Parts: sequence; C-alpha cells; structure tokens
Amino acid sequence: MSPPDDLLEAALEERDYYRAVAEQVGRKVLSDFSDLSRLITTLKRTETLLRSSGDELERKVEERTHAVMHANAELRAEVIERARAESSARESEEMYRLLAETSPDSITVVDLSSAIIMLNQQALHLYGIPAVEDAIGRSIFQWVPPGEQEKAALSFQRVLSGEILKGLELELTRHDGESFWASVNASLARRADGEPRFVIIVSTDITARKRAEAERLRSQKLESLGVLAGGIAHDFNNLLTAILGNIGLGLEFCSDDDLSQCLADAERASLRARDLTQQLLTFSRGGSPVKRRLSPLKVLAEAAQFGSMGANVRCELQVADDLWSVEADEGQLAQVLNNLVINAVQAMPEGGRVGIVADNRLLSEGTLLLPPGRYVRIRVSDSGVGIPSENLQRIFDPYFTTKSNGSGLGLAVAYSVVKSHFGSLEVDSQVERGSTFTLLLPACAMKVSSAPARARIHGSPTGKVLVVDDDPAVREVLVRLLTALGSTVVAVADGEAGVREYQEARKLGEPFALAIVDLTIPGGMGGREAVERIRAIDPEVKAVVSSGYSNDPVLAEYRAHGFCGVLPKPYKVSDLRRVLGEVLGERP
Ligand SMILES: Nc1ncnc2c1ncn2[C@@H]1O[C@H](COP(=O)(O)OP(=O)(O)OP(=O)(O)O)[C@@H](O)[C@H]1O
Ligand SMILES: [Mg+2]
Repeated sequence: MSPPDDLLEAALEERDYYRAVAEQVGRKVLSDFSDLSRLITTLKRTETLLRSSGDELERKVEERTHAVMHANAELRAEVIERARAESSARESEEMYRLLAETSPDSITVVDLSSAIIMLNQQALHLYGIPAVEDAIGRSIFQWVPPGEQEKAALSFQRVLSGEILKGLELELTRHDGESFWASVNASLARRADGEPRFVIIVSTDITARKRAEAERLRSQKLESLGVLAGGIAHDFNNLLTAILGNIGLGLEFCSDDDLSQCLADAERASLRARDLTQQLLTFSRGGSPVKRRLSPLKVLAEAAQFGSMGANVRCELQVADDLWSVEADEGQLAQVLNNLVINAVQAMPEGGRVGIVADNRLLSEGTLLLPPGRYVRIRVSDSGVGIPSENLQRIFDPYFTTKSNGSGLGLAVAYSVVKSHFGSLEVDSQVERGSTFTLLLPACAMKVSSAPARARIHGSPTGKVLVVDDDPAVREVLVRLLTALGSTVVAVADGEAGVREYQEARKLGEPFALAIVDLTIPGGMGGREAVERIRAIDPEVKAVVSSGYSNDPVLAEYRAHGFCGVLPKPYKVSDLRRVLGEVLGERP
C-alpha cells in the first residue's frame, strides 16, 4: 500500500471512528438530552410538588398551632374554673359549717344504721352530751325512751325510704336522764349516683311550748269547771247560810245539853260543807281574791301547826329572817298551804317529817311562767310515797285523786289560787322518796303594814236593819238572828223594795242604822245599784254587802263600791256579829 493510500485509509478509518464516535455521542447526547428534559420535568414536578406540599405543611403547622393555642386557652379557662370551684367549695363548706354551728336547732348527721357521724354544738347542748367524742359512733336512738322507741324507729324507716320527716314531736331523754320535748325533722342525703348516704336530723327543743300548752289546757279546764262550780257554790252557800244561822240560833238559845251537842255537830258538818263550797268557789269564773299586803308568817305558822296535828307526823317550819311580804288573800293562801300540808301528811301513812321552808328569791331572768322580779318561795316537802311520773301531769286536774276518800280538789284549788295571785306552783317528786311542792308568789315592793285595824265590837248592834235578799230562807234566818241580837229588822226581796223602804223610814223619822244587801238578785235590782240609789238619798248610809259568790270581785273591793262591810255567805252568828260591830263601830 502506498502511503497516500495508507494515509487515506487511515484518514478514512479515523473518519469512521469519529463518525462512530460522533454517532455514539450523538445518540448519547440525544438520550442524555431526553434524560435531561425528563429530569427537568421531574424536577419541575418535584418542585411543584415540593411547593404544594410546603404550603400544605405550612397550613398544617398553622392549623396545629391554632389547635394547640385553642387547647391552651381551654386549659387555662379550666384551671381558672377549677380554682374557682375549689374556692367556692371551700367557701360553701365553711358556710355550711357556720350554718350548722350558729343554728339554734340541733343538727345531727347519722349513717344508715343510725350511728352518729357528726353533730353541732346545739345538739351537744340539747342532748346534754359532755363532748363530741361521747356521741360519735353511738346510735341516735340512745336518747329515745322506751315509750317512744317504736314511733321513732318507724319514722326513721320512712326517712330511709326517702320520705322527708317534718315536725315529729317526741319526748326524749337527755344524757343525764332528764326528759324534754323535741320537734324532729329529718331527710335522707344521697350520693351523686342516687345511693342513700346518710340521714340529717334537725331537732328543736319545744319543752317550753309543750309546757305552755299543758298550762293553757289546764287553765281552760279550770275555767269551764268554774262556771259549774260557781253556780253550785252560790246556791249551796245560800242553803248553808240558812242552816248555819238556824243552828247558831238554836245553840244560842238552847239549854238542853243533848240538843246542844246535836246542834254543835250539825254546825261542824255545815262548816265542813262551807269549806268544800269554798274550794269549789275558788274555780268560780271571775273569782278574784280579797288581797291585802301581808307577811306569810302567820299563815305558815298555822299550816305548820295544822300539819303537826297527826300523832306520828312532825312538821318543821323554817322561815328566812327577812322574809318579804306578799299581796294575798289570807284565807286563800292558808287554803293553799293547808292543802299542800294535808297531802304531805297523807303521803306518809307511817308517819314522818313535813318540811315547810320559806325564803326570798330574786328572779333576774324570769321563767316560763313568771316574769323577772322578787318572789317569796315556799316549799312543802315530805318523804312519803311520791308521785309516779304518769300521774305528775294530772295531779292539778280537778277531781283527780288516788285516794279512796279524796275529792281531788286540793291541788286544783291550790293551783287556781296561785294563778290568781300571779305565782307558780310546781312539783318535784320521786316514787318512794317523797315530794316537794314549790310555790312562788310575787313579793311586795314595800314593807307590810300591820293588819287592818279592827273596829272594836260594841256588843250587839241595835237599831233598825234593812235586809235585801232574794232567798226567803236567808231573809228569814237573818230576821231571826238580828232580832235575837237586839235589832229591829225589815227584810225585802229586791233592791227596788229596799230603796223604797229606806226612803219611807227616813221620811217617818225612823231611819235604818244599817242595810245588809245581797249582791246578785236574779231578775231584780242588785245590791250595788240599790246602795247607789240609797246613797243619793242618804250619803251617810251604812251598807254591808253579802253574796253567795264569796269571791265576787265586788266583795274584794267592797269599799270601792260604796260598802262599809262584807259578809261572804255562809256566815256564822259570830261572823255576823263581828261585821255588824265593825260597821256600826265606825260610826263617829
Ligand atoms: N305530797 C304528795 N305525795 C304523794 N302524792 C301526792 C301528794 N300530793 C298530791 N298527791 C297526789 O295527787 C293527787 C291529787 O291531790 P289533791 O290534793 O288534788 O287531791 P286529794 O288529796 O286526792 O283529795 P282532796 O285534797 O280533795 O281531799 C292525790 O290523790 C295524790 O295521788
Ligand atoms: Mg289533797
């Protein structure tokens, strides 16, 4: 081969080579190019994708941030709310604690088996429990006496079944055994899921109200009996006036010993009947005692003497040196003390000691029955049979008696007298140990003036006497008595006739020295009006008022009504003579 050929060949080879290379490269470039453009496309898509997912991410982040912020705010609000709830729970707990502590009622919380979980100060006080520890865990029923157990247990069951208990009145026993009345309210407290949890019991002490109610009932009973008793006693007194007057006359003019004895016995029986009538009259409606300021000493001494009359009973009297005086009807006060002393003596059939103690009491607070002030306290005690608790409420009732020969009026009378003297009468008694009756009477502010001066009795009254009485038997016996005492008597049946007689007698120049007038004349002019009319004729008239209602207020205040003497029926000859002496003795 020639060199140009060689050269050519080499050049051709080289050309081919480069062509191949070029081809190769070209193909490669081409494919690279498509790769690249694909790459670019991918890149672009990726970029777009990236951008859009970046946006999404940002949105999501934003969303999340927002949610977190919201949750934070909610959390913060909840924290605040919780804090507030906690403090208000604390406040409300404090409020309820204070409420329980300041409540005037007793509040006790018990579990479903009645065991005490909690109780307030008032409950401790009401039940007389020394300390909270003495009550926690113990049953609320421990203060319910046997007689009330059934009622209380039934009510508790009803509360457990969801009923609200209101105003159940129970007589309960304090820790020290003393009994008291409570009004009980109770309700069941439940858990949030409705399960019963505990029972809240709120009790109020209503002993004072109960006592006042019993007192009111007793007064009402006495009042209605008074209407009846007053009527009977009035008629009875008229009868007794006639009987006693005639007996008196018989005794005075009878020389036969046997007859005298009979009459004396009849007089004694009549006087006992008078005492019984007096007891009845004390109940009488409108009956007011004839009060004057007096020292109870005399009445006390007489009662003590009276108590010692039984052979085997000793009566000891103990009186404070400076004993205050009282404003009282002496007769009625004596009646009260005698009734108490007789009961004390009768309570000790085997004999024993009756103690009468009198002293001064200053009530700074006042009690249920009495306002604050100065009182004279009289206690009558015995060591006798005592009074069972079931009878304690009834002993002051009229006609309540446990004695075969008792009338059951003694304490009813005593109670009634004490009431009309604005005092109180209470009893404290234990079976087989004895009883103490405590009497409180308002004391007088001033010193006792000595007993009213008695006019001297100038023997028998002489002169003319006018008698005004609707009862013919009373008129008749008065005429006989006064005549026997040396007077001239004119007797009429009513006030009008009396005024007429008085006027006539003056006109004739034979005036009456005295008029004895009956206070109440059914269907006619009574004594008060008659004396008023007579006074218009003769301002100097001497008039004595008499009445079968021996505790009529007019008798108590006879001077204020224009009379100068008083003769409660029935009276003995000696009473009549004394009053006449007093009245006529006042004549200058
Ligand atoms: N000191 C006492 N000790 C025991 N029981 C008493 C005492 N005082 C009163 N009682 C009881 O109270 C009842 C009523 O007494 P009250 O004085 O009213 O009537 P009485 O004594 O039975 O009858 P009366 O007094 O009319 O003759 C008595 O029957 C008695 O049961
Ligand atoms: Mg009696």
